[in-house]
Parts: sequence; C-alpha cells; structure tokens
Amino acid sequence: MKKILLIGKTGQLGGELIKDASAFDFELIGLNRSDLDITNEAQMAEKITEIKPDILINTAAFHVVPKCETEPAAAMAVNFVAVDKLARLCRHHNIKFITYSTDYVFDGEKGSPYEETDSPRPLQVYGISKLAGEYAALNIYPEGVFVIRTNGLYGGATGSPDKGGNFVLNIIKEAKGKNIIEVSSEQIISPTYAGDLSQATLKLLNSQAKPGVYHLVNEGQCSWAEFTQAIFKLAKVKTEVKPVDRGGASGSMKRPKFSVLKNTKAKALGIELSSWQAGLKTYFNFLNNYQDESKN
Ligand SMILES: NC(=O)c1ccc[n+]([C@@H]2O[C@H](COP(=O)([O-])OP(=O)(O)OC[C@H]3O[C@@H](n4cnc5c(N)ncnc54)[C@H](OP(=O)(O)O)[C@@H]3O)[C@@H](O)[C@H]2O)c1
Repeated sequence: MKKILLIGKTGQLGGELIKDASAFDFELIGLNRSDLDITNEAQMAEKITEIKPDILINTAAFHVVPKCETEPAAAMAVNFVAVDKLARLCRHHNIKFITYSTDYVFDGEKGSPYEETDSPRPLQVYGISKLAGEYAALNIYPEGVFVIRTNGLYGGATGSPDKGGNFVLNIIKEAKGKNIIEVSSEQIISPTYAGDLSQATLKLLNSQAKPGVYHLVNEGQCSWAEFTQAIFKLAKVKTEVKPVDRGGASGSMKRPKFSVLKNTKAKALGIELSSWQAGLKTYFNFLNNYQDESKN
C-alpha cells in the first residue's frame, strides 16, 4: 500500500482526501499547519524524512485573492517558494508530488474552455504566484510533478478555514432575511465539488498518468448567478437572484471573465468528474447527512 503525506488536512480538499484515500488503497497521513508550516524549509525536510511517503499531496495555498494583492510576499511564500522547495525535496527523495493550481492562471480572453496546453496569462497576484509555483515545480522535477488546476472549489461542512467558508455556504448565509440578492453574471466558471476532485485525484494516482498539468473540474459551465440559482433551489431558499454585470473587476483587481477549464488529459485516461449540477447535489447530500448526524 502506497503512503501519501497530505499537507492541508483541515482544508476543503484535504478533508475529502482523508475520507477517500483508503477506498483507493492508499495509506494517508495528514498534517495541518501547526504540524508543518510549508514556509519553514527545515520543518518540511524533517517531516518528509520522518514519514517517508511515496506521494506528497500539497493542498495548502494562500488564496484569498484580494489579500494576495495587499500581501504579495506572503502569497509568493506559500504559492511559489514553498512549492519550489517541496518539489526539490520530492525529487531528492524520489517522491511523486501533487500540487494544486487554479483557473486564475488564465486571463479569460479565450472565450472557450481552457485546455491544459493553453498559454497562461494571469491578471492578478494570486494567479501570478500560483503560476510561478507551477513553473518552478515542473521545471525542477518534470519526471515527478502533477499540477492539478481546478476552479470554484467548495466542500466540507464549514468550507475553507482560510476563506471563511465557501461560496455555497456563504451565499446561503448572505441571503438570509433578503427578498433579492445581486450576484455577478459576467464571470463564467466550472464550479467544482471537493469530493469529486479528491476522487479524481486518487484515480489519477492509480492510473498510468504521466507527470504534467491536468485540469480536474466538474463538467459544464455557469455564471456565479446561475450557480446561486441552483444552490437556492437545493437549499430551498426563496430569495430572488438578480444577475448583475460587474465587469470582472473588484476595485483595481481583475478577475478572468471566462475561466472554464477543459479536462482533456485525464479524460483520455477515463477520469472525468460529473456535471457541476451533479457535484452540487452530492455536496447537498453530504451537508444534509452531516446536519442529521450532528443532531443525533
Ligand atoms: N477554493 C477555491 O475556490 C479554489 C479554486 C481553484 C484552485 N484552488 C486550489 O485548490 C487547492 C485546495 O484549496 P482548498 O479550497 O481545499 O483550500 P483550503 O480549504 O483553504 O485549505 C487550505 C489548507 O492549507 C493550509 N495551509 C495554508 N497555509 C499553510 C502553510 N503555510 N503551511 C501549511 N498548511 C497551510 C490550511 O491550514 P490551516 O487550516 O491551518 O490554515 C488549510 O488546511 C489550493 O491549492 C487552491 O489554490 C482552490
């Protein structure tokens, strides 16, 4: 049985990987930031030497997008420098290295879904820092690095600890007591359920996949407004969704208008996530079961 060392066990994706690993025949050891801070190189080397994993999965990120603009050094430290160092350590110890990236490496101008081979052009510090991490890892250890890009990730009972939840949980909270809510209509995305991403990642690890860049997202596309309408239907929220075009800008910071990712490489190996609508239903089943269990 292969041993996975997971960084980011308290995160949305980390939590799902912990649940799924044994079903895919992996032993998994998960660490949180207090066990291992990936900006501390000596600690990273120590943990890797101690645990001796076959595979290292890094789900840690500095990914509050506006905060990356005001704290670029901190964003670079987690998304670039630490990923660079992890890739070097993995190469040294002959460990397969999986790290996650984002649709924000693209500028959104293509107008059709981005394939793995499309040229990136990030618009803001977050995208720049994640792309720097991708380039560093792939350059340093091309024979052992898998960069998995995803989009609009949500999962877990409380969402992302660093982002204070996730879009699904937060928009439901925001709608409370309101008759109408405005949600942006100009950004087109492929929202992805962390449970589906976790299983696809583990399938990829069990396949003949070659190292490189992969796009793993729920299939299909929608605007944030359309996503909100689907969320409210499942959550039985009566608030009306008013789509608004905010031009993709939050202050001076730009976001890609069209950042749907196309999974071509994993699909060729038979690895495909369900539609975003099915992913959202699976998440609601999880949330409903979680609430029932919490009551008992
Ligand atoms: N969320 C999205 O919408 C989205 C979209 C596209 C791509 N992605 C990418 O997908 C990946 C997983 O995202 P996610 O939403 O699952 O993240 P998440 O829920 O925010 O979890 C991130 C985890 O990283 C840990 N972490 C942060 N800084 C760390 C450090 N310096 N050392 C060690 N651990 C650290 C956090 O630990 P603590 O709990 O201790 O802080 C947390 O457990 C990330 O690479 C992200 O960039 C996410």
